Amino acid sequence: ESSTEVDISAIEPGQAIKAIFRKQPLFVRRLTDAEMGEANSVATGSLRDAESLDDRTKEGHRDILVTMGVCTHLGCVPLGAADGENKGEYGGYFCPCHGSHYDTAGRIRKGPAPTNLLVPDYEFSSDTVIQVG
Ligand code: FES
Repeated sequence: ESSTEVDISAIEPGQAIKAIFRKQPLFVRRLTDAEMGEANSVATGSLRDAESLDDRTKEGHRDILVTMGVCTHLGCVPLGAADGENKGEYGGYFCPCHGSHYDTAGRIRKGPAPTNLLVPDYEFSSDTVIQVG
């Protein structure tokens, strides 16, 4: 199976881009300090799918959130990766199909989705490029 390179250099804090990984949407988001603060202010154990921001990002790049753009309920593509789209009640992503709200770490916070947006295997090949898969 093939891997995908994504250049993240043009992503401004608070923005995300959409790419394609193994024929599925992939979201890469650069979090603002406020968004990281929000994610870190939640007691991880209180979450439906208990993961911290640190669990979902790489050391030295805590502001880069890489997830599949596939709702874990029934597979719709959540909104929130493009400018002006509804990010939901927790400021991350919103799936309009049945109303799942994901937070700034891509964690499920409200609605029917059972688990957080999937973080695929990836590595930084440089400070500005990630290799997914
Ligand atoms: Fe996203 Fe149902 S597919 S909420």
